[in-house]
Amino acid sequence: MCGIIGYIGKQKASKILINALKNLEYRGYDSAGIAVREATDIKSVKKTGRVANVEAEVHQANLKGGVGIGHTRWATHGGVTEANTHPHISSDGKFVLVHNGVIENYQSLRKYLEEKGFDFKSETDTEAIVNLIAYHYRKEPDNTEDRFTSAVRKALIHLEGTYGIAVLCVDCPNEMVGARNGSPLILGLGKDENFLASDVSAFASRSKDVVYLNEGDIVHLHSDKYDITTIDSRNVSAIVESLDWDIEESELGNYTHFMEKEIFEQPQALENSMRGRFSDDNSTAKLGGIDLSPRELRSVDRFVMFGCGTTWHACLAAEYLIERFARIPVEVEYASEFRYRNAPISDDSLIFAFSQSGETIDTLAAMRESNRKGFRTLAITNVVGSSIARQTNGGGIYQHVGPEIGVASTKAFTSQVLLSSMIALYMGRLRDMSLGDGTNYVDALKSCPEMVDRILKQADSIREIAVRYSKFNDFLFMGRQAMFPIALEGALKLKEISYIHAEGYPAAEMKHGPIALISEDCPSVFLATSGRIMKKTLANMQEVKARNGKVISIVPEGTEVPKECADDVIFIPRCHEAIHPILATIPLQLLSYYIAVERGCDVDKPRNLAKSVTVE
Ligand code: F6R
Repeated sequence: MCGIIGYIGKQKASKILINALKNLEYRGYDSAGIAVREATDIKSVKKTGRVANVEAEVHQANLKGGVGIGHTRWATHGGVTEANTHPHISSDGKFVLVHNGVIENYQSLRKYLEEKGFDFKSETDTEAIVNLIAYHYRKEPDNTEDRFTSAVRKALIHLEGTYGIAVLCVDCPNEMVGARNGSPLILGLGKDENFLASDVSAFASRSKDVVYLNEGDIVHLHSDKYDITTIDSRNVSAIVESLDWDIEESELGNYTHFMEKEIFEQPQALENSMRGRFSDDNSTAKLGGIDLSPRELRSVDRFVMFGCGTTWHACLAAEYLIERFARIPVEVEYASEFRYRNAPISDDSLIFAFSQSGETIDTLAAMRESNRKGFRTLAITNVVGSSIARQTNGGGIYQHVGPEIGVASTKAFTSQVLLSSMIALYMGRLRDMSLGDGTNYVDALKSCPEMVDRILKQADSIREIAVRYSKFNDFLFMGRQAMFPIALEGALKLKEISYIHAEGYPAAEMKHGPIALISEDCPSVFLATSGRIMKKTLANMQEVKARNGKVISIVPEGTEVPKECADDVIFIPRCHEAIHPILATIPLQLLSYYIAVERGCDVDKPRNLAKSVTVE
C-alpha cells in the first residue's frame, strides 16, 4: 500500500518518477505527487486521483532537475485531499519526504513539534516525520559532515510504527536519504543513477542490480555511490543481487486489463510454478527451496497455514488437499488473527505463510511471531527477495508466475493451490502414497496447464453467461469439500471488482440460513466437481431452483445436469482430484471479470482496494 520512488541521477527526474509511479499505482490510487530538486529549491506537484492527473501538471511545470521523489497514496490518515497528498514538506521548507507505512505515535510527535513552533498543513502521520527530521537537523552543528543522515537517524529513533521513506534536503542538492522499518524499500543501482522504491517494478526498466534493504537500514544516496548504516549507526555491507525481470511481463500488451491478461496467462504461469519440480522417476515433487530433510518432514504432525484474503482461500484449499492426500492435519488461520491469538501449537508443527507479494504486513507479523517462538517457518511467495521470503527459517517455495499487477489476485491464487497440491503429493509420498498413485498424481499436475487452456477457450460462452447475469446485485457461491474454498474465492472475486454482494458457503450449509436469501433476484453458482457428492450437490441445486433461484453450475465434462437443477452449465475437463480446485477457479475468474466489465467497473483498480497491504 502506497508506493514510493526516489531517483538521483543525470536524467530528467520528473519523467522517470511519473513512469515509476505508473508501475507502482496498483499499491494505491487515491492521489499522487512528485517533488524535484530545481536549482536552489525543491518543487512539488500533487493531485488527487490517478497518476495520470499529476502527469498532466508535471508536464506543464517542465521540471528539469535530476533528483526527485514520488508517491502514490492509499489513504490511511486523513481524507483524499491535495493537502494530504505526498510529498510532504517540513514547515521550515528544508525537507521533502514520501512515506509508506503508518506512524502510530504521530499525534504525540505532532503535539511536541507544534509546541516547538512547527506548522502542520495536513492530517497525515507522515508530516510528523518530515518535521521531526527538520527539528533534529536544526539541532545538529552546521559543520557536521553527515548532518542530513544524522538528522534522519535521530528522528527515526522516535518513531513507533512502520515506514519506508525517501527524503530530500534543500541544503544537500545531490543527495537523498531512505530508510525502512516494516515497509519494503529496495535500492536500485544504475550507471550514474540510483533509485529507491517500494517495489522493483518502479525501476526495473533502468536498473537490474538491487539491494534489498533490511529492517532498520538507512541508505545515503548519491548518483554514483551509496552507503548503508543501521539506525544505531553500524555500517552494513550491502548484498547486490541481480534482477531476473522480463519487462514485457509487466506490460499490458494486447489485453484490456491486467486481470484479463493474468487470467489468460495461467497455463504458462502454472507451467512455470511446476518447472523442475518433479522427481526423475515422475512419482513425486521436488521442493528444493525447503531446507528440511525428508526425515524432519516425516516428523511433522501438523501444518499451520496462514495468509490473507484470496491467499487465505489458497490455504483453505491446501487444507483439503494435504489432509486428503498426505493425511496430515492442517490448521488454517487468518494471519491477522493468528498473530494475536497465541494459539497452542505442538512442537512438531510446520508453519507455512502464503503471500503473493511477500509484503502483507499481517502475514509478515504472524511469521515473525512464529519465528520468535522458535517454530519452523516456511513460505509460498511470488516476489523474490520479499520480506516474507527473507524471514522464513525453513526456506520456501517461489511461485514464479511473474508480476501480478491486477489488484484482484488470479494467477497467484491458482499457482498457490498448485504448489499446495505439490506439497500434498510430496508429503503423501514420504508417508503412505504408493508409487503408482504418485505417478498418476504427477501426470495430473502436468496436465493442468493444458486443461486450464481448454477452459479459457470457453471464454466467449462464459462472457455471454456473465452478461446475462450482470444486473443481479446478490450472488451465492456454493461448493462442498475442496470446492468450498473455491466458492469463497468466487464470491470474493465478484464482490471486489464489481461491488456485487456475494457470499460463499459449503453447499450443505445452505439450508441452515443462506437459503433465506434465495429468490429470483439472487442467483447461485454451484461448484460440483466431485463424483462422490455429485448427487447431493445436484439436490442442493434443485432446492434453489424450487425457490425460483437461478443456478449456474460448474461440473466435469459429461455430467448430466437435469434442466430442473441448473439454468446454465459450464463444463470443466474431467481430472484427478488433485487439480479440481484449480480448474474450478478459472470459470469463476472469467465470470467475475466479464460481469465487472459489463457493469463498467475499473477492474484493475477497484475502489478502496490496493495490492500489497503493508498497513495493519
Ligand atoms: C484479492 C486479493 C487479496 C490478497 C491479500 C493477500 O483478490 O488479492 O485478498 O490475496 O491481500 O495478499 P498477498 O498474497 O500479497 O499476501
